[in-house]
Amino acid sequence: MNDDALLGMRALVTGAGSGIGAASAVALADAGARVAAADLHLDSANATVASIDGGIAVRCDVADEASVAAAVRTTVEAFGGMDVLVTCAGITLPGRTADTTLDEWRTVIDVNLTGTFLAIRESIPYLRASKTPAIVTIGSVASLVAAGSSASYNASKGAVLQLTRAVAAEYAAEGIRANCVCPGLVRTNLAANSERVRGAPTAPPETAGLKARPPMSRTSEPEEIAAVVAFLCAPAASFMTGAAVPVDGGYTAT
Ligand SMILES: NC(=O)c1ccc[n+]([C@@H]2O[C@H](COP(=O)([O-])OP(=O)(O)OC[C@H]3O[C@@H](n4cnc5c(N)ncnc54)[C@H](O)[C@@H]3O)[C@@H](O)[C@H]2O)c1
Repeated sequence: MNDDALLGMRALVTGAGSGIGAASAVALADAGARVAAADLHLDSANATVASIDGGIAVRCDVADEASVAAAVRTTVEAFGGMDVLVTCAGITLPGRTADTTLDEWRTVIDVNLTGTFLAIRESIPYLRASKTPAIVTIGSVASLVAAGSSASYNASKGAVLQLTRAVAAEYAAEGIRANCVCPGLVRTNLAANSERVRGAPTAPPETAGLKARPPMSRTSEPEEIAAVVAFLCAPAASFMTGAAVPVDGGYTAT
């Protein structure tokens, strides 16, 4: 992508303190956007902002309505508006359906699904005022097929995709595009960070229940996901909306 593909655009990235969110914040900034890096952990968001030009760090719990509203307001006040929302905040907990407690279920749904909903809902009034509005949500191969050994994660990610499609349909007439990136296995600290968010051990092998031999049999780097996120935010993707975009080394192709 060109260095100036997102020049002048103003972005909020949730979950920007680590992994895919951090890499997305960097990719958007490298393409010329000003980025508000939001995360539950302000120290992590600060670390991301330290590596980009003109960004701000925001503490935000995406599962908390007031916290999300405040993060969106902070972004708009800092940049004078908002053109792009990327929702990367997410957690995973292990557990087949019968082994999942209600507390575990609610925790995952609250962060992954409700957090995505709140970020989109709070951003829409400002995206409406943008000339180049775009939303990118982070689903998973688990948005498309049952993957891994977590009922709550699969359910949350399926719903994130369907929410993204609904938003795309609802706001297409107003020029707001919404697409869902569906990564396969990415080299991040998702399991360890999920434990930190929840304050309780999770300890699943990240790969449990995943396909044994996907076509490209390797883990991807967060930057390989972030490159697609940045493209979907850019005007070059002007006819893409409501799309589920697998970035999975062929995982869902076979
Ligand atoms: N790593 C993978 O293999 C993989 C595969 C497919 C999809 N994903 C998805 O990608 C997204 C990013 O995950 P990642 O792998 O980069 O993990 P990560 O743990 O490196 O990053 C997630 C970030 O979200 C933040 N976060 C967690 N709960 C939050 C909350 N309530 N409010 C605000 N921030 C919160 C964490 O602090 C962390 O910085 C998640 O939605 C995840 O489900 C990851």
